[in-house]
Amino acid sequence: MNSVKVGLLGLGTVGGGTVKVLSRNAHEIMRRAGRGIEVAHASARDLSKPRICDTTGITLTQNPFEVVNNPELQVIVELIGGTDQARELVLRAIANGKHVVTANKALIARHGNEIFAAARDKGVMVAFEAAVAGGIPVIKAIREGLAGNRIEWLAGIINGTGNFILTEMRDKGRDFADVLAEAQRLGYAEADPTFDVEGIDAAHKLTILASIAFGIPLQFDKAYTEGISRITRQDVGYAEELGYRIKHLGIARRTEEGIELRVHPTLIPHRRLIANVDGVMNAVLVKGDAVGPTLFYGAGAGAEPTASAVVADLVDVVRTLTSDPENRVPHLAFQPDALSDLPILPMEKVETAYYLRMQAQDRPGVLADVTRILADQNISIEAMLQKAPANGDGSVPVVILTHRIREQQMNEAIRRIEALGTMAGPVMRMRVEHLKG
Ligand code: HSE
Repeated sequence: MNSVKVGLLGLGTVGGGTVKVLSRNAHEIMRRAGRGIEVAHASARDLSKPRICDTTGITLTQNPFEVVNNPELQVIVELIGGTDQARELVLRAIANGKHVVTANKALIARHGNEIFAAARDKGVMVAFEAAVAGGIPVIKAIREGLAGNRIEWLAGIINGTGNFILTEMRDKGRDFADVLAEAQRLGYAEADPTFDVEGIDAAHKLTILASIAFGIPLQFDKAYTEGISRITRQDVGYAEELGYRIKHLGIARRTEEGIELRVHPTLIPHRRLIANVDGVMNAVLVKGDAVGPTLFYGAGAGAEPTASAVVADLVDVVRTLTSDPENRVPHLAFQPDALSDLPILPMEKVETAYYLRMQAQDRPGVLADVTRILADQNISIEAMLQKAPANGDGSVPVVILTHRIREQQMNEAIRRIEALGTMAGPVMRMRVEHLKG
């Protein structure tokens, strides 16, 4: 049988990796898919740039619309990133009756509902395994492998750059900016690295995971997002002293009132497996009612790990080219007419435990004021650390761990503590999660 002809939009890190993996493993891929998969046409912004792959035999163009309009191609792989032109190209490819494979998490998180509706109308597939956690096949695991479960919650380290920065800061005492520059050199970071460090990239991925776990529409605009740029080396050290690691987690949880959808720095007990996921590696912990906790671990970024997911999607698409569109695995795991309208909870309604760090004046009654405010809000203290004065200004760092409480009550407590007049600067707050099975 003839090879399936594929068009590739973008020949950068992931595009180059995809061409390399398809060519190196061509024989294995043909044995799996039943047909060869051939990149016939590709677009790149700058054709004079050196490539990490051999492009011999591929027609190259600077105009991506030439690729999506090429009638010879059956599948378009979108690897240019961004949301404006990528959306236009993907919708055009679908309108032209082509299947789409994409690694674009921003595109799926923000425009996935529209794109999947268009794909359903045309009977084509849109596959996006590479959009979440790079090479880890977590979309397939949740959508298919865990299909017998009611998923209760999931928590993931889903941004390699952020995890790399936190790990290097903890292990080597390196500066934030220095580690970020290295991550950019290695091709892990987004074009705009604030997407990595402020949690936007993780929120894109979490939005997708929550939709396939709970069968809800994609609702990126309702995700709570907080980055890692305010974490100090002292926080990392205090967390360790208390038996915790700080990780930048995306958490989605089903509650009776709605779905929690939140990305923020989180203290987790240091003995948990996920607390020991270091460097650029990603991991997603998924709790199903039947299976219990499951952990998926692997490289979340980089040329070939991401290409691994892109090529797996290509194999899936090729295997199901001739199947009845009504009987394919639904894009969001649940049948489109069976999606739930459970609301996304506002952060004030989320219940979690907390780490608080404040710089308090070292004189009688200051701690008593703080603990009274916490008691007034019904907040119970789990542990407390007071360190020796360091600044010579008569103030001391105080660290408090609390039991679980609604965020709204914690907000009120922090507002009142900051108004005491005995604090030097704002209270640093991080959430604490025990992630028990
Ligand atoms: N910037 C992303 C990360 C790349 O660091 O994880 C993979 O999505």
